[in-house]
Amino acid sequence: MRLSGKHIVLGLTGSIAAYKAAYLLRGLVKEGAEVQVVMTPSAKEFITPVTMSALSGKPVASEFFSANDGSWYSHVDMGQWADLLLIAPATASTIGKMAHGICDNLLLTTYMSAKCPVMIAPAMDLDMFNHPSTLANLEKLRSYGNLILEPGEGELASGLYGKGRMEEPENIVEEVVRFFSQKKKLLNKHFLVTAGPTYEKIDPVRFIGNYSSGKMGYAIANELACEGANVTIVSGPVQIQNSNPEITVIPVESASEMYEHCLRIFPETDGAVMCAAVADFTPEHYSEQKVKRQKDNLKLNLKPTTDIAAALGQLKTEKQLLVGFALETNNELVNAFLKLSKKNLDFVVLNSMNVKGAGFIVDTNEITIIGRDNNPTFFELKSKAEVAKDIVIRIISEMEKKYGFQE
Ligand code: C5P
Repeated sequence: MRLSGKHIVLGLTGSIAAYKAAYLLRGLVKEGAEVQVVMTPSAKEFITPVTMSALSGKPVASEFFSANDGSWYSHVDMGQWADLLLIAPATASTIGKMAHGICDNLLLTTYMSAKCPVMIAPAMDLDMFNHPSTLANLEKLRSYGNLILEPGEGELASGLYGKGRMEEPENIVEEVVRFFSQKKKLLNKHFLVTAGPTYEKIDPVRFIGNYSSGKMGYAIANELACEGANVTIVSGPVQIQNSNPEITVIPVESASEMYEHCLRIFPETDGAVMCAAVADFTPEHYSEQKVKRQKDNLKLNLKPTTDIAAALGQLKTEKQLLVGFALETNNELVNAFLKLSKKNLDFVVLNSMNVKGAGFIVDTNEITIIGRDNNPTFFELKSKAEVAKDIVIRIISEMEKKYGFQE
């Protein structure tokens, strides 16, 4: 029994795939898990609470209060009891509500209170799955550190064929077993990640910035946290909300603020990933008053900022790992390797401006990792969450190789 002693809250939503949740529940219980089922009101249209309570050996939680005796189902207690919250099947509607903090049923309040990891198995028709809002919501949930079990391709209840089928119950049970048996490789490690752009002020209303969204840096931070690391993001101005308790965000605006914080934090860390698009130049003078329109050209004198990655490279001890990014437009591999040497990095992640769908703003990226042996590893175009996984796998292997640490 590979799940004995594990507490799982199994959330069901109103999808035709809810009938498969009975098999899923049976599989989890067979492996020794203690399962508390929570159903949304519409899930009960698809499968009865009687079935689920008989299979779990526990009353199903669905309403905030019991109609019989007024006793209260505490979503907070459930969220704290659980070692894993598994939502299967998860409809587009529930996924959307989870992404936006709407909690109009017990499952959603449990989700918002859960302190444990969350695993989601989406199930819906292919057009609903491929709708930009669903894809964006799933991306958002990934950024919260939730694990998504990608739906399979096949025949759908609508009669259509495509992506949207809930992962098969036996595969979900295997995922859950794998999840609990996998050893987190970065437990007790602390990482610093820089993310986003910097804003260099010209006057009270203007700045020099860039198009960095911070998505790549936040995805890396989430992935490091998934491996058990404690992460501090020093973040330029971005639109991303962090909700991962293992991640602390220090918001900054300018390159010099980012530098101050990084310099202070780096000595306490086991490594840093320099993902921010830091301005290389900043206005020499800040004008206290708004610069007025004038007839002649305006000359703005810019001075170089301090290279944070290079400064940390100087400070780096034998026990620390330093990862940098390179965004190149020409002679990419050569320039990226030069950057690695100049800044004393352990490896550099090259993303090319020449690849469609890679780099700033977009949700995807295509990278090449170049290590100190100058032997590049090429990766295909993937979502930034997947790219972050590749980068963190490399971080773990570099730490194992270089410092011989085994957790
Ligand atoms: O030299 P370049 O700016 O292309 O180097 C990119 C790498 O250096 C990235 O990892 C970026 O986060 C880091 N960097 C930095 N401080 C700067 C400029 C770049 O940490 N002032």
